[in-house]
Amino acid sequence: MKTIIFGGAFAPPHKEHIEMCRSAIKELGADRLVVVPTFLPAHKTEHYLDFETRVELSRIAFNGVAREVIVDKIEKDRGKDNYSAYILPLLKEKYGEIVYLIGSDSLQYFDKWREPQNVAKACKIAVCTREGYESAEDVINSVGSKYGKENFIALKYVGKDVSSSMIRTKLLLGENADELTDEINEYVKSHGLFDDYRDMVNQLKSYQSDELFFHSKSVVKRAIDFNNKHILLQDYDKVFLAALLHDNAKQRKSLDGLDVPKDAVGTPVLHQFLGAEKARRDFGIEDEDILNAIRYHTTAKANMTMLEKLIYTADSLSDDRDYDPIPRLREIAIKDFDAGFRAILKFTYDKIVERGTGMYPLTEDAYQYYIVENNK
Ligand SMILES: [Fe+2]
Ligand SMILES: [Fe+2]
Repeated sequence: MKTIIFGGAFAPPHKEHIEMCRSAIKELGADRLVVVPTFLPAHKTEHYLDFETRVELSRIAFNGVAREVIVDKIEKDRGKDNYSAYILPLLKEKYGEIVYLIGSDSLQYFDKWREPQNVAKACKIAVCTREGYESAEDVINSVGSKYGKENFIALKYVGKDVSSSMIRTKLLLGENADELTDEINEYVKSHGLFDDYRDMVNQLKSYQSDELFFHSKSVVKRAIDFNNKHILLQDYDKVFLAALLHDNAKQRKSLDGLDVPKDAVGTPVLHQFLGAEKARRDFGIEDEDILNAIRYHTTAKANMTMLEKLIYTADSLSDDRDYDPIPRLREIAIKDFDAGFRAILKFTYDKIVERGTGMYPLTEDAYQYYIVENNK
C-alpha cells in the first residue's frame, strides 16, 4: 500500500493543500494519505491555532481525499526535534512504502534542512511546482546532483501561491476566506477562531459607511501583502491595527477637546491627527508606532518609519482605488515598494500643487526629503 506523507502547519488547511494531495495521490497511485501537522513551540503560536484545533481542522479538510486518510500526531508525541530526517524513518516503519510530498519552494532550501542526505535516503520525495517559484524539474536537477536524482519525483501539478497570512487576515476581519472550503469557514465561525480583533472590527464598522469600511479592510489586506511580499519585517499586529484604524476618525470629525494641530482643523488632513487620538481613546491603542502610522497616513512627513511608509502607501494604493493612475502606481509598488512609495508621494504632491488647495507643511517636508533630496 503506497502512502503519501504531507506535513504543514495547517493554520488553517486550505483548498490548495487539498488539491496538491488529490493530484499527487492520483499521479502516484497512492491509497493512503497521512497528514502530519507541525507541532510549534508555544511562543510561535500567535494567531496560529493550537495543535488539537489544527488536527481537527485537518481531519475535516482532508476527509475523503484518499481511500484512507490519517492525521498523525507524531510531532506532538515527540515534542521536539521534529525534523523530516528523524520523522520519516519512523513513519516508514509505521506505514510501509511512503512518499514525502513537498512544494518546489521548500526543496529550494534542501541544503539547509537538518541532515538532508538522510531525508533523501528515507523515502522518495514527490515535488509539486509552486507558482512563482522554480519548477519541480529545475529544483530536482540542482538538488538531485548532490542527493541523487532517483530519490525525487517531479509531479505535473502546479500549485497556486496561496498566502496563509492573507487567509488569517480575512478571517480576523470577519470575512470568509475563499481559499478555504465551506466546512472550514463554517468551523472557524462556529468555534470563534481568529476572533482576536472582532470587537474592534465591529466597533469600527459602526462608525463607518459601507464604502469606508470596505476601504479600511482593503488597506489592511494591501498592507499585509506588501509587508510579506517585500519582506518589510513589520510586526503583523501593528500592521493590521494601524491599517484597520487609519481612517477611524474620517467620519467622526468632532474634536472632543483632543489635542490636534490647529492648522489642520477644517482641512482634509485633520482626520489623521484626530484618528491617532481617537484610536487611543476609543480603541485602547497605546503603541506609539501604530499611533504615528495613523497620524501621518495622509500627509506623510520627512524621515518616516517603515510602518508609517507602509500604511501611507497601502492607503493610497489599496485595491478599492481603481482610478487613473492608481492601478499603474500599484503595479510599481508591487514590484518595488520604495519606488511605489515615492511615486505615490510625488503624484499626490503634484496633484495638490495643480489644484492649488494648499500644501500641508508635513507634505512639503516629505517631498523635500524623499523626492528632492532623495533620502532613503
Ligand atoms: Fe485617510
Ligand atoms: Fe484611507
